Amino acid sequence: MKVCIIGASGKLGRYMVQHCLDRGYEVVGVCRPKSVEKLEAFRDQIRIEPGATNDRDVIRRAVAGCEGVLTVLVPWGVNDYASGTAQAVLDYAEPDARLIFSCGWHISKDGQDIYSRKFLMLLKVAGWIARTLRLVDIDNQVEACRRIFASPLQWTVVRGSELEEGESEGLPVWSEHIGDPILASNRTRRIDFALFMVEALTNDTLIHEAPAIVSCQSESALAHAAQSAS
Ligand SMILES: NC(=O)c1ccc[n+]([C@@H]2O[C@H](COP(=O)([O-])OP(=O)(O)OC[C@H]3O[C@@H](n4cnc5c(N)ncnc54)[C@H](OP(=O)(O)O)[C@@H]3O)[C@@H](O)[C@H]2O)c1
Repeated sequence: MKVCIIGASGKLGRYMVQHCLDRGYEVVGVCRPKSVEKLEAFRDQIRIEPGATNDRDVIRRAVAGCEGVLTVLVPWGVNDYASGTAQAVLDYAEPDARLIFSCGWHISKDGQDIYSRKFLMLLKVAGWIARTLRLVDIDNQVEACRRIFASPLQWTVVRGSELEEGESEGLPVWSEHIGDPILASNRTRRIDFALFMVEALTNDTLIHEAPAIVSCQSESALAHAAQSAS
């Protein structure tokens, strides 16, 4: 399989590069020119397309001929970076490609998610501070996902919980809605977020889903598994 990883030089991106190479996939990575050196370890194994992830020409070249596209969706700045990235992928990916996008729990596909008051307060305060400082525009990640959800292409939007570094704990489990008890622990290893993204490329049951993920070894996931077994 030929796979394009958009945002390949970041933490999530580099884990996805490794998971794809482990599976023998051919990899094209898009990253900012200043970050190409962060992919030095993979230099002989992947093709790199340097450029901003919302540069439509860069994306058009990078996704050509790819059966899968893994996009790290991040709303940097206040100039529609996330929606520009998503739109370029939707416009230029091969029509039958599997498109997997990353985001956080704050994204809701159907408005049925139930958030704690603490989560909503933190989101509001952090979002306001980030936008005031012109660093991040969370609303633009919401807009990017709105466009993805409206697309007839074969997309999956993976909603990551709070992330931590460390050894893999295995493929995360998922649920359709925030608030479901299985997700209560709200923690996933970043390496396993990447694993879920890469596994989604070949899991057709995830097409047009927005799985919210959590570590399979977290307390809430283990409690759910024990309950299901009894
Ligand atoms: N962090 C969390 O706790 C968390 C929780 C849930 C979900 N998520 C989701 O996980 C995904 C990855 O997030 P992450 O926090 O783990 O970060 P990450 O993997 O390090 O990815 C950040 C990406 O943004 C790029 N970037 C950094 N600064 C930039 C700038 N000023 N302009 C343009 N691009 C820039 C990085 O590229 P360079 O290599 O060029 O810097 C990298 O590709 C995102 O979709 C996020 O919504 C994160």
